[in-house]
This record gives sequence, structure tokens and C-alpha cells, in this order.
Amino acid sequence: MNKKASKLKKLKHKQKRQALTDQEKKEKQALRSHLQKQIDALNFGNLKPEEDYTEAERQHVADLTEKLRREYSEQQITEAGRPNHPTGDAGRAMLERMNDSHGPMTQWALSHLQFNKGDRVLDIGCGGGACLARLSTMVENGSFAGIDYAKTSVEATQQFNQALIDAGKLEVFEASVSDMPFKDDEFDKIVTVESYYFWPDFETDMQEVYRVLKSGGHFLLIAEVYDHEGLPQSVLDNIKAYDMRNLNLDGFVDVFEKTGFADIAIHVKPGKRWIAVESVKA
Ligand SMILES: C[S@@+](CC[C@H](N)C(=O)[O-])C[C@H]1O[C@@H](n2cnc3c(N)ncnc32)[C@H](O)[C@@H]1O
Repeated sequence: MNKKASKLKKLKHKQKRQALTDQEKKEKQALRSHLQKQIDALNFGNLKPEEDYTEAERQHVADLTEKLRREYSEQQITEAGRPNHPTGDAGRAMLERMNDSHGPMTQWALSHLQFNKGDRVLDIGCGGGACLARLSTMVENGSFAGIDYAKTSVEATQQFNQALIDAGKLEVFEASVSDMPFKDDEFDKIVTVESYYFWPDFETDMQEVYRVLKSGGHFLLIAEVYDHEGLPQSVLDNIKAYDMRNLNLDGFVDVFEKTGFADIAIHVKPGKRWIAVESVKA
């Protein structure tokens, strides 16, 4: 991490414990805007679709992503990458990190589902695409779809899963959960990882999920944040900063039941704060 980034991090830590002086507040503001300008200056990646890049541009984006990874802390990559709507090079770097960091939780949560040969599976808010790649190894002869309303996420998922797309097993759509380009009763399984926090209207969006799920199909909502005693201050800060929905266990049951789901089961991984809410379309 460079000196300015590390100074900013120190000030942020200090602010969690005690109030900053006016001088420190000014310094923090100046550091933030300096770092943001550097990141903005790097951001050319979303000006045209990735498939139109020349080899030199492709290399440039790879170098910039590497530079971002070296120079900025995880938290800064997340802030610049916009987890609620990943954007540009910073978004790409963040999605790459999430592909790794969400892996153990995703694997744990998916192990609760029983897949059948030939299942058709949807991932909502597919981000960097690792969950779809994982699903493709769990479902024999499966067919897969991903949707995400962020263009950067759609491109990242496509790039991560080019072989699945070439094999005709995966399609990726730029669309919101609120209005999905699928017919009624299309999927045997639907999953969503770390995305429901940002859906515009959870109750009506859940009805849309229900619509495209087959009768008897399973929906699995996976998250590493849910409302319960003892959430650390850093998590509470993120909830506020990104305006994240944060339901408690009763809140999930309420909405799932209202939507019409049956057999609701909540799995919680002790010591990790991971939650997986499983349910069946009646
Ligand atoms: C924190 S990222 C998680 C990405 C990926 N599922 C993972 O676990 O790494 C949240 C993703 O949800 C997507 N998302 C947020 N709101 C959405 C909506 N209304 N419709 C579709 N996707 C949405 C974002 O664009 C982003 O790619």
C-alpha cells in the first residue's frame, strides 16, 4: 500500500475509536479525494466492451488491475469498485477479489442443495462469475444462467466462464432481479450470493424470483451479513455506507412466507456469520 493510502487507513481506524481533530478531518478528506482521483484516472475500462479491446488495451487493463491490487487496501478496492453496482477497472479488481473471498462461504452454502442431473440453475447478481463456475462442477449435464444489472459484472462473468459459454451451457444477461428475461417456471434451482442487500424492493423482487422458479424448485439466498447481536462496527459501517438491507432471521422468514415459499430452512455457520436461507416453491 502506498504512504497516502496507509495514512488514510490509520485515520479511519482512529476515527472508529475517537473523534478526529479538525486538522485530521481535513487531511482525511484531502487523502480520500487524492486517492479517488488516482483511481478515476485509471478508469478507462468500461468505455467500450471488453471483446473490442486491442491486445495492448487488454494488457493495459491487466496492468492497472495489478497496480490497484498492489497499491490499495481491500477496503479501498471495495469502495472504489462499488459492490452495489461494480463499475470499471476498480469494479473488475473488486469482483476478482470477491471471486476468491466469497468462495468458502459459497461452497458451504451450496452444499445444502441437492442437485439433479440436467438441472437448470440461475445465479442472480452473478458478479465475477465464480459461483456459476462452481455450480457447473456440481450439476451433471446442467444448464446455467447468470443475471446482473451491472455491465462490468456481466462482462466479468462472461470472461471467467468463456468455456461454459462456448460449450452452450451458460448464458449471462444484463438485467435486474426486478424484471428478469425468463419465462415462468424456468429454473430447478436459483441462488443468489451477497446480492439481496441491494435489490430495490425485496418483497416484489422475491415474487419475480418465485415466478421464474419451477414448482418444487429450490431457492437459496446466501449472505455473510445478517442482523444479529454483536455485528462488528466495521460491518455496521459498511451497511450504512452502502445502504445495505440487513434482515434478521424473522425478517427472512416473514418475506419468504409472504412470497409463498414453503419448507424454509435457515442455515447459519457458527463463528462465521454466514447465512443460507433455503426454500421450496410450493
Ligand atoms: C457484492 S456483489 C456479489 C457478487 C457475486 N454474487 C459474489 O458473491 O461474488 C453484488 C452483485 O449483485 C449485483 N446486483 C445488485 N443489485 C442487483 C439487482 N437489482 N439486479 C441484479 N443484480 C444486482 C451487483 O451488480 C453485484 O454484481
